[in-house]
Amino acid sequence: MPLKKINPTKTNSWKELDNHFKQIKDVEMKTLFKGDKNRKETFSLNFDEFDIDFSKNRITEKTLKHLLDLANETELKDAIEKYFIGDKINETEGRAVLHTALRNQDGKSVFVDGKDVIPEVKETLKKIELFTNQVVNGEFKGYTGKKITDVVNIGIGGSDLGPRMVVESLHFYKNHLNTHFVSNIDGDHVTEILKNLDRETTLFVIVSKTFTTQETLTNAETIKKWFLETATENDIQYNFVAVSTNLEKVKGFGIAENNIFTMWDWVGGRYSLWSAVGLTISLAIGYPNFDAFLKGANQMDDHFRNTPFEKNVPVVLALISIWYNNFFGTESEVVIPYTQYLEKLAPFLQQLSMESNGKSVDRNGEKVTYQTGNIIWGNSGTNVQHAFMQLVHQGTKIIPVDFIGFEESLYGNTDHHQKLMANFYAQAEALYAGKTVEEVHLDMKFKGDTDKINQLLPFKVFEGNRPSNAILIKKLSPKNLGALIAMYEHKTFVQGVIWNIYSFDQFGVELGKELANKFLE
Ligand code: F6P
Repeated sequence: MPLKKINPTKTNSWKELDNHFKQIKDVEMKTLFKGDKNRKETFSLNFDEFDIDFSKNRITEKTLKHLLDLANETELKDAIEKYFIGDKINETEGRAVLHTALRNQDGKSVFVDGKDVIPEVKETLKKIELFTNQVVNGEFKGYTGKKITDVVNIGIGGSDLGPRMVVESLHFYKNHLNTHFVSNIDGDHVTEILKNLDRETTLFVIVSKTFTTQETLTNAETIKKWFLETATENDIQYNFVAVSTNLEKVKGFGIAENNIFTMWDWVGGRYSLWSAVGLTISLAIGYPNFDAFLKGANQMDDHFRNTPFEKNVPVVLALISIWYNNFFGTESEVVIPYTQYLEKLAPFLQQLSMESNGKSVDRNGEKVTYQTGNIIWGNSGTNVQHAFMQLVHQGTKIIPVDFIGFEESLYGNTDHHQKLMANFYAQAEALYAGKTVEEVHLDMKFKGDTDKINQLLPFKVFEGNRPSNAILIKKLSPKNLGALIAMYEHKTFVQGVIWNIYSFDQFGVELGKELANKFLE
C-alpha cells in the first residue's frame, strides 16, 4: 500500500502549533530551565550507548505534545510499518524502500512482489564475507599473482559518499589495505589517484546501481585503459569487480560473472551502503566489523519501529527539526561531530537528507505551501569553531545544531580528549546561555578594559537562546556508527512522511544530466 497523502498544514495539531508558536517564539530557554529543575531529564533520550540531550531547544512539554500529535495525525505509525514491510512507498518509481532489510539480523521474511528478499540478502552478505576474507588474507590475487594492497572505489553519490564516509570514520579499525575513492568526472583527479598505484596489486571496485552514470563509467573506462597498458582483457577478471543491478552492462564492461555483486531496485542509492555498495567498507575494516556496523543499524531500526514516539530518537529529532523549519522559519541545520574521523559525515548527510527531502510537490502532485527539506551542512569540531561558528553564535540566523561527541577516545589520549569534550560542552552552553550586556560589562571591568567598554560592549554581547541537540555516544565503534547513520536515515524518513512528499525519488538531478549531454554534443 502507498503512503497516505495528508497535508500536514490541514491538521489540528498544525493549527495548534501555529498558535503555540506565537506564544513561545520569544521565550528564553534560560527561563524554561529556571522554571523546571528536571528539564534536562525531561528532554533527554537514551538508546543503547547513545544519550541524547535535547533540552537546549526552544520547546516546552506542550510543544512536544503538539508535535507528537502532528506525527499521529499524519499517520506516521502506518507509514513506518509500510516502510519496514516492503510496501511500494516509493510510489513515483514504483518501488519498495528496504535498506532496513539489508541489516535485518533476525532474518524474518520481507516480501517484495510476493518474493522473500531475505535469502538473497543473506547470499550477497555471504559473498561479501568470502570475498573480503580472500582479499584481506591474500588468497585473491591480482593478474600477475601478487597480493592486493590497494582498493579503489569508483562510484558517485550514494555509490561513493557512504562508503567513503564510513571507511574514513572507521579508520581506526582498518586493516593493511589502502583505500582510494574516485568519484568526480574530473580527469585530473583520476590521474592523481592512478599516479601512485600499481596495476598488479590494485583492486578496482566499480559501484553503480544503474551502471549508466556518466561520471562512474567515464572513470571506469579511463582506469580500464590505463590497466590495459600492461595487462590484457582476460586479466580484468583479476583486478576488477562491480556492484550493480544492471548485470548485462557490467558484463559488457568485461567483468567476470563471479566478480559481480548484485543489489536490488528496492535499495535507493543514498541508502545503499548496507548492501554490496559497502564492499569497500568490508574490505577496509574486515567483515566482522562490517557485520557489527550492520547490527548497530539494525538495533536502531528496532528502536525506531517499536518505541513509542515520545521516546523514539529519530522521531523526536525529526519533530524538533520540523518545529524550527516550519514555524521558526530556519533554513538550515548544522551537524558538528567532535571527532576528526567523522569529517565526511556532513557531505554524506547532505545527500541523504537533501536528495530525499528537497521536494516542492506533495504526494498529491500539488505544489507545497510550506517549507520542506533543510539545508544540511557541517564539519568537525573543533575546526569549525575557528571557521563558521562565529555566524552560528552571533549571526542573524537561527541555525539549530547537532553536536555529536564520544565519551571515549580511541587511542586513549586523555589530555586531548578532555579538551575536545570541554569544547563540545562549551559550544552548546555558549549558544544556549550567550553573554549579556551586564556580563560583558563585568568581564571587561575585571580584565582591566574599562576604557574600551563604551566602544566594544555591543560587539561582545551574545544573544544566546540558540538551539542545539547534544548526542553523546560512548565510543566510535562500527556498531555505534551504524546506529548513528540509521538514526539520520529514519529522521529523514519521518520528515518526508510529515511533509507529505516522496523522499525516495530524485527527479531533480535529471535535468542537469540531460543538459550536460547536450552541451557535450
Ligand atoms: O545523483 C543522482 C544519483 O542517482 C544518486 O541518487 C545515486 O546515488 C547516484 O546518482 C549514483 O548512481 P549510480 O549508483 O546508479 O551510479
